[in-house]
Amino acid sequence: MSFYNCSCFFSRNIFLHKYGLHVEYFSKDAFKKTYGSILNKKGCTSDEAFNSVCIEIEAEVDRRKNAGQASLERKETIAKGYQRLHPEIFTLKEEFLDKEFLELVNRCKTGLLSDAEKKAIEFNAANRLFRFPVFTHEFCDKLVEELENFEESPLPKGRPNTMNKYGCLLDELGFNEGFLVPFRIDYVSWITRCLFPDWGGDSLDSHRVFSVRYSSGEDLDLSYHYDNAEVTLNVCLGKDFTEGDLYFGGMNTESRVERTNYVVYTNQVTYGLLHRARQMHGALPIDSGTRHNLIIWMRSSAVRNNLCPMCNDLPQLEKDTTNGYGQGFTEYQENVETVNVCTI
Ligand SMILES: [Fe+2]
Ligand SMILES: [Zn+2]
Repeated sequence: MSFYNCSCFFSRNIFLHKYGLHVEYFSKDAFKKTYGSILNKKGCTSDEAFNSVCIEIEAEVDRRKNAGQASLERKETIAKGYQRLHPEIFTLKEEFLDKEFLELVNRCKTGLLSDAEKKAIEFNAANRLFRFPVFTHEFCDKLVEELENFEESPLPKGRPNTMNKYGCLLDELGFNEGFLVPFRIDYVSWITRCLFPDWGGDSLDSHRVFSVRYSSGEDLDLSYHYDNAEVTLNVCLGKDFTEGDLYFGGMNTESRVERTNYVVYTNQVTYGLLHRARQMHGALPIDSGTRHNLIIWMRSSAVRNNLCPMCNDLPQLEKDTTNGYGQGFTEYQENVETVNVCTI
């Protein structure tokens, strides 16, 4: 199957770190009209500062236009030049997975979780947040060591997104075919089928997986946002850290962000938090130590072909040139049952 991007990737949801702002950019003039006074209030008061914001944005748009090809090239360079520290972890084995996780998957394979089983993994019922152990401690330690080993290597690194400057793309590192594909299809999809069938959890067909790292002197926190996916599994891998809780708010629907009180979740090593990707969330600042999380964005083309979550419109398809998953869109098919993404 061929996957596609939505063309909004080249003009929308561009994050300005310095001002903590997501913007869209079609031209410098249009940008000034829309964002001039907002930026001014946030401290961007001179022409020079405004121009440097525009240069930053144009560089980001260029990066996005070349991202597919650049990623493919990095992946090939890494495949040739990277000396794996723990080669055995690149192929998924059941022994990497926590026993409770395996039991949960098996229960989900029966098609229905009982209320008690659901309750046991519910972190917050109202927000449909679920938590459960995913990997063993031993596996988490090895994966963190592998990520740090790669980080220290001189090889090229693609960063997860504009919001996280540290961390890496697991596909580029070589985890996709042997690990991530079977992990999604044979394990996590069974859980999402039971818990999020109304959000594409029963029709996931691609993913984007990356690690994020928070540490003093690097990224400390993560601004409030939603993910470009249908369902997200966020697993804490370690190491030692204090603070850095995640917080969740309302859903980002087509027309508005629902306002609710925040729900705060404390990261626990080996545990994953499963949530609807369009649930607004962020990470509070870490206080000490280093925190690595594995972020698994899972996508359903049946859902997103009808509505791109980033522009809230029918996706304008642009073919992914790398033969990868792109942003998980596929060509619209008349006979695919439409799914209404705007629930609740
Ligand atoms: Fe996120
Ligand atoms: Zn779009």
